Amino acid sequence: MSGESVRRVVVLGAGTMGQGIAQVTAQAGFVTHLYDVDSTRITRAIDSIKHVTDKLVQKGKMLNETRSELIGALVAAPDLAKAAADVDLVIESAPEQMDLKVNLLREVKAVAPSHAILGTNTSSLSITEIGTRLGEPGRTIGLHFFNPPPVMELLEIVRGLGTDEATVAASQVIAKRLGKTAIIVNDMPGFATSRLGVVIGAEAMRMLETGVASVEDIDRAMELGYRHPMGPLKLTDLVGLDVRLMILEHLHKEIGEQFRPPAILRQMVRAGRLGKKTGEGFYRWTESGPVPVKR
Ligand code: CAA
Repeated sequence: MSGESVRRVVVLGAGTMGQGIAQVTAQAGFVTHLYDVDSTRITRAIDSIKHVTDKLVQKGKMLNETRSELIGALVAAPDLAKAAADVDLVIESAPEQMDLKVNLLREVKAVAPSHAILGTNTSSLSITEIGTRLGEPGRTIGLHFFNPPPVMELLEIVRGLGTDEATVAASQVIAKRLGKTAIIVNDMPGFATSRLGVVIGAEAMRMLETGVASVEDIDRAMELGYRHPMGPLKLTDLVGLDVRLMILEHLHKEIGEQFRPPAILRQMVRAGRLGKKTGEGFYRWTESGPVPVKR
């Protein structure tokens, strides 16, 4: 499958990332089927894309015509067999659990055309293992997007041990068509981005635990001192504390002690304080913006 001939996509999972990825692929003109086990999440995600793009049109940042084409390219797809029947590209964006991802992709593989590229938006799990367990290492590839997908420029393409060069080449073309800049990374735990990103996030949490500074000042340190667009605790809220915990647990097991999840992160996940998506994490996410939670 060449990257130029991809027309139809299925995005598996309508969470924060699935929603953003669907917006990106639909805006690039791909017919985009959005699937989730919970069909209410599909409706919510499409409504949210309508809302976000409406605001972009109002602010003069998107043409109304572009918005109409984008919305027209989105298909709510609660039936997986139908959703994947004639796609050229699969982008799996389910939670960071190996068995869940493999089982979902197995179902898709059973109905999708044999030329379809099997992409996964995993942040850290092994592409080699996913490809091997699917029995399709050649067309399995990591397509790692960043939150918020419509805004972030990078696409991290992760090559598993058995990924065909043709699949890598097609993914590079797809990245370009999506308006992204691609990097190619070999399949090692945490790839290039997550491995570095979670270290800063986890260290910021340990600094908070040991009373180095407040939430606000730890974030300001990196925003003003290092020009990061947002500090590591705010970014953890944006990504989701549950997502960061799953990545850290995996990297702790695969690489070692420096990735041990901080106790505060486990506690907050247990309390359901998952960040922006639940309204509270290190910040309370109000209509007028994030407010640091005093501790
Ligand atoms: N679609 C299209 N455009 C959108 C959009 C959407 N859904 N949401 C926001 N935008 C646009 C806005 O219109 C705005 O455009 P202009 O610059 O032209 O005005 C721009 O994006 C910035 O948005 P805002 O003004 O609302 O907000 P901001 O300036 O405070 O920036 C941010 C917000 C882009 C999130 C910025 O703070 C940032 O870059 N933060 C770091 C994000 C980051 O590091 N992400 C990676 C996380 S790790 C990850 O995702 C990987 C993983 O595996 C867990």
